[in-house]
Amino acid sequence: MSESIDSVLKEKRKFKPSAAFAKNAIIGSATKLAALQKKAAKNPVKFWEEQARTLDWFKPWKKALVWKHPFAKWFAGGRLNIAYNCLDRHLKTPRKHKAALIWEGEPGEVRTLTYHQLYLEVCRVSNVLKNLGVKKGDVVAIYMGMIPEAVMAMLACARIGATHNLVFGGFSAEALRDRIHDSKAVCLITQDGAYRRGAVVNLIEAADRAVAQCPTVKNVLVYQRMSTRPTMKDGRDHLWQDLVPKAPTESPAEKLDSEHPLFILYTSGSTGKPKGILHTAGGYLTQVAYTSKIVFDLKDEDLYFCTADIGWVTGHSYVVYGPLANGTTVFLYEGAPNYPRPDRFWDMIERHKVTIFYTAPTAIRAFMRAGDEFPKKHDMSSLRLLGTVGEPINPEAWIWYHEMIGAKRCPIVDTWWQTETGSILISPVPGATVTKPGTATQALPGIIADVVRDDGTSCKANEGGSLVIKHPWPSMLRTVFGDDQRYVETYWRKFAKQGYYLAGDSARRDEDGYFWIMGRADDVVKISGHRLGTAEIESALVANHKVAEAAVVAKPDDIKGSALVAFVTLKADAAKAALGNGRVHHLKEELRAWVAKEIGPIAKPDEVRFTDALPKTRSGKIMRRLLREVVTGSVKTGVKGDTTTLEDFSVLEKLRQGDEE
Ligand code: WTA
Repeated sequence: MSESIDSVLKEKRKFKPSAAFAKNAIIGSATKLAALQKKAAKNPVKFWEEQARTLDWFKPWKKALVWKHPFAKWFAGGRLNIAYNCLDRHLKTPRKHKAALIWEGEPGEVRTLTYHQLYLEVCRVSNVLKNLGVKKGDVVAIYMGMIPEAVMAMLACARIGATHNLVFGGFSAEALRDRIHDSKAVCLITQDGAYRRGAVVNLIEAADRAVAQCPTVKNVLVYQRMSTRPTMKDGRDHLWQDLVPKAPTESPAEKLDSEHPLFILYTSGSTGKPKGILHTAGGYLTQVAYTSKIVFDLKDEDLYFCTADIGWVTGHSYVVYGPLANGTTVFLYEGAPNYPRPDRFWDMIERHKVTIFYTAPTAIRAFMRAGDEFPKKHDMSSLRLLGTVGEPINPEAWIWYHEMIGAKRCPIVDTWWQTETGSILISPVPGATVTKPGTATQALPGIIADVVRDDGTSCKANEGGSLVIKHPWPSMLRTVFGDDQRYVETYWRKFAKQGYYLAGDSARRDEDGYFWIMGRADDVVKISGHRLGTAEIESALVANHKVAEAAVVAKPDDIKGSALVAFVTLKADAAKAALGNGRVHHLKEELRAWVAKEIGPIAKPDEVRFTDALPKTRSGKIMRRLLREVVTGSVKTGVKGDTTTLEDFSVLEKLRQGDEE
C-alpha cells in the first residue's frame, strides 16, 4: 500500500480534455462545470429536484428530501415507474425503433433488441411473474449470466413493483441460498447454463441446490440458453420459453411511490454476513440517469459498452438503469474478456463500433500483461471515451489505457462510487475536468464530499483521512435490508455528531482538491475489482470441520490488485493427519476448493498458510495488521506495527519461519 501511495504522490502529469471533445460535450468547459458545482452546492436539494424533473412522474412529489438522520426519503409522495422511464417513454420518440440492447454471446451470436422490442418482452415477463403469483413488494431473486433476458427480468420486476435481488452468477449455491434466504425471495429467475471461457457454468444445478433449502421460493423461472431442454422440477419450475412468448404484451406500469424498494444487492462488509443494500426507485433513477449522462457524455449516436456483470452494482446502475433511462444503445457481452483470445473486447469494439468503453483497472492490467499486439491488431477509432471503476487505477495502467486503447484521443473518467452510493459520486466530467492518472478527481455537482480526520475536521492538502459525504444524495442506500441498526452502525456512527456518511475508504486530497483513494480502511478487500469481506471468507473456512481458526488478509498483486492469503489453525486431529502423512499441500488445496464451493471461485484464497496460533490482542482479537505485514514481507526486517498488545510474541516468530519454508 505505501508503495502505491508513493507512486501516485509522484504522479504529476495532467491531461486536459481536447478541444475536439469539449466542443461537442454536454458539459464542455471547466467554467461551466464550476458554475454548476457552485449552484448545486448552494442548494443540493433544489439541484436534485431539477434532475428529477427530467424523469416522467405519474404524480409529482410533495417534498424533495425528508431527512431524519440517517434515514432519507427523496421525492416522497411522488409516483413513477422505473421500467416506464427506461422503456415506455422512449416509445413516444424517435428512439422507439432504436437499438436498446446489442448483445453478443460468447460463442459469437449477435442479437439486437430495439426499445420497442425490449418493451414488449418486459411486458410479457411482467405478466408471467404476475401469473406466478408475484405481487408488488415481493422479492424476486435473479441468478443469471449476461444475457438480454436478465435485463428483461430486472425491468419486469421494476414494472410490477417487485424488488429484485440479483446474485452474481459466479457465486456458489451456498452463497445464493443465503442471499435468497435473507431477502425472503418468493421467486427465482435463472437459466440452465451460461457460457464462460468456452465452458458452461451450470447455473441451474446451483440454483436447484439453493432452492431446495429455501422454502420461501414458490416458483422458479428457467431460461433455456443451451440446446437441450433442462430438467425441471414439477410444479415449481417453469420454462421461460414455454410461458413468455405466449404471454400478453399489455402490462400497465405500476404507479409506485418514489420510495418503493427497487432492489436489494448483497455486498461484503467487515463482518461475516453480507449486507443487503436497499435502493429505492425515484432518487436512485434520478441520480443514475443524471450521472450516466454527464459522466459518459451520452449522445443518441453512442454505442455504450460497460463490461461489468449485472450481478454487481455497476451492472445495475451503468449497464441497465442509467443508460436505458437515457435512451442509449447498450452493448452487452456474455462471456470472458480473454476468450477465445485476449483481444475479444478490442475485436468487439472494432466490429460493433463501440464509442464508450467502461471497465475495471484489474482488466486493464490483465490486458497490459497480455501484450500490446492484441489491441494493435484492431481499429478502435470509433471509441471517444473511456472509463474505469472498482478500485484505484495505478498511473501505469492509466497511461497504457490512454495510449493503447484511447490512442491519446479519448478522455478517461475514473469513477469512484460504491454499492451503497448507488451512483457515481466522484469523477471527472470528460469535457471539463483536467485529469491526472490515478485520481477520480472531484465530487460531481450535487455531492458534498471531503476527507476528514477522526474528529471530523477537514484534512490539509495531502493529509490522509476518511472519505465522507456530508450531505444526503438521492441514490444513497436507504438501509441494510432488515437491519436498520447495522446501517446506522456501519455508515453513520463514526461521524454521528457531524452527520457525515462514512464511505469506509481512506483517501487524501491533493493541492487541487482532487480525491486520491488509498484503499479500504476496514476489512473489505478488492480482488479483481470484486468486493469481498475477509470476515466472510474466514467464516467459510471455520465452517470446515478441520479448521479451528482462520484469518484472511490481502497482499498486493500486479494484476488482481490484491491477492488473498489465509492463515489457518487446524484442529489437532486434522493437523496431525495432514502433517503426519505429508499431505499439507493436499489439505491446502482442499481448503481453497472449500471456499470456492462455499462462496464462489472469486473468493478462493491464493495462498493458505498453516500456523499453530494466530497473533491476538489480550482481548482475543486477531491482529490482521500484523498478518498483513507478514504477507507483504515487511516482518522479515522486524514487525513495524505496535506489538505491545500481542498475546503471544512467539506466534509472530513462527509465522515468519513458516513464511520462509
Ligand atoms: C473502491 C463498486 C478507487 C472503493 C462501484 C469503494 C474505487 C469500493 C473506485 C466499492 C475508484 C470503487 N477509485 N477506488 N474509481 N471505485 N472503488 O461496492 O474502495 O463493489 O469503497 O462498488 O470500491 O466497491 P463496490
